[in-house]
Amino acid sequence: MKNIIHPQISKINVYPSLEETARAAAEFTINIVLKNPQAIITYATGNTMIPVYQKITEKISKKEVDFSKTKAFHLDEYYPCDPKADYGFVNYLYKYVFGPFKIKKTNIFILNGLVKNPKLEADRYNLLLKKSPVDLAILGIGPGSHIGFNEQRTPFDTQTHLAKLSKETIFRDQKERGQDTPTTALTQGIGNILSAKKIILVAYGENKGEYLKPALWEKINSQYPASALRLQGQKVIIFIDQAAASKASKE
Ligand code: GLP
Repeated sequence: MKNIIHPQISKINVYPSLEETARAAAEFTINIVLKNPQAIITYATGNTMIPVYQKITEKISKKEVDFSKTKAFHLDEYYPCDPKADYGFVNYLYKYVFGPFKIKKTNIFILNGLVKNPKLEADRYNLLLKKSPVDLAILGIGPGSHIGFNEQRTPFDTQTHLAKLSKETIFRDQKERGQDTPTTALTQGIGNILSAKKIILVAYGENKGEYLKPALWEKINSQYPASALRLQGQKVIIFIDQAAASKASKE
């Protein structure tokens, strides 16, 4: 299948399989770090990213790249959420990213889902992000074309904030994944995401293709949070497999 040509997004690369999609996204990330060993990266969580992070880990183990001096930011976290909770994203990031990538402790910046005042935590994070301009934001896509936990109708200029999860997201987490997760979350805002120097979005499968399609082809609007990426499309690269592309294509 051919790559998808889009008027605003610089590249939508289509790969025959999940494996190849994940490898390409991993290689893109690795190249950023090879060029800039102190790169600042925002990491998404979720199933989509596991093979991407595993492929990066393989290269780190072979000493082909060194992530130890990079800075790591967190895209989103349930609230309230103990950083040690099984379903928590902090837990995930230590398991798949911070640990295996051997990132220095002082270079890890997490969103703490246990704080008393989420507004203060969001403000703290925004300040940190302002001081550390992100070189690469790694994104997945979720129900209602959400990015991070920016659900439908989130204004595009939002900064890190406490978000109310949509019915679809809650359904996915509680019914489909059997996780009794909170119904609110701290998330980097669309405004934070759009200010990264490069943004990649990774998706596999028909379901994800369906989330992506309106974000690519409908009018840019907050009904489809991922459509905001088209406002900065020159710095966006989308990596998808053939199954996702079969649903995300215009025709
Ligand atoms: C969650 C997270 C997103 C993530 C998305 C996709 O809702 N908030 O940051 O990108 O899910 O997750 P998965 O890859 O497991 O489908």
